[in-house]
Amino acid sequence: MNPAIRPHAILAERAVHGAAIHEIGGDVTPSASNDAPLMRLCAALDAAFDAASDSAFDDPAFGAAVRAALAQAVADPALLTSAQREGAAATYRRHLLAADPRGRYAIASLVWMPGQASPVHAHHTWCGYAVIDGTLTESVYRWDDARQCADEIRSHPRTTGAVSFAPGGRDGVHRLMNVADADTGAAAVSLHIYGVSGEQIATHVNDVVAVAPRETMAA
Ligand SMILES: [Fe+2]
Repeated sequence: MNPAIRPHAILAERAVHGAAIHEIGGDVTPSASNDAPLMRLCAALDAAFDAASDSAFDDPAFGAAVRAALAQAVADPALLTSAQREGAAATYRRHLLAADPRGRYAIASLVWMPGQASPVHAHHTWCGYAVIDGTLTESVYRWDDARQCADEIRSHPRTTGAVSFAPGGRDGVHRLMNVADADTGAAAVSLHIYGVSGEQIATHVNDVVAVAPRETMAA
């Protein structure tokens, strides 16, 4: 397929050539998608790239454009199919939704059952996310290059509709978690965009880092 004749991203099932991938927790599950909302999102991202130079992904204008695209996408209740909202018992689940044929970005939904969390990580690339359903708790860390570990500095709830963007690098260490009660809580669903190709989404995004041990109280 010639990417030059496709103005928008290839949707996930085509991007992976129909490969039967059903893995979880950092791997990717491609699935059938709703074309219209995703294609609108891809068009908005394509426009953000058109307006940015190749090295301007830490430019506030690029981040603002990605945040606006995310906000518009998650406001559309038709964005995800029920399959793209399915979680897994063992760990959070990632569904690849679309991949740019030029390899500039990949889009995924992440499903977080109560108690599930990402590792503490920075990003090898720029990324943006928005909460579609439920509430995620985001813990933010400061990377200490001398000690080669991260210290938690704050934690805050990210409710439905919350949108975030960060350039790559260890200035953006965080962890996402669904802190809902395991027996009574609900799953949370979020939409993520990363500056990698679809094939790289499970391998070239998260930069998992060491966490400083918590201070122990004196007996
Ligand atoms: Fe992240």
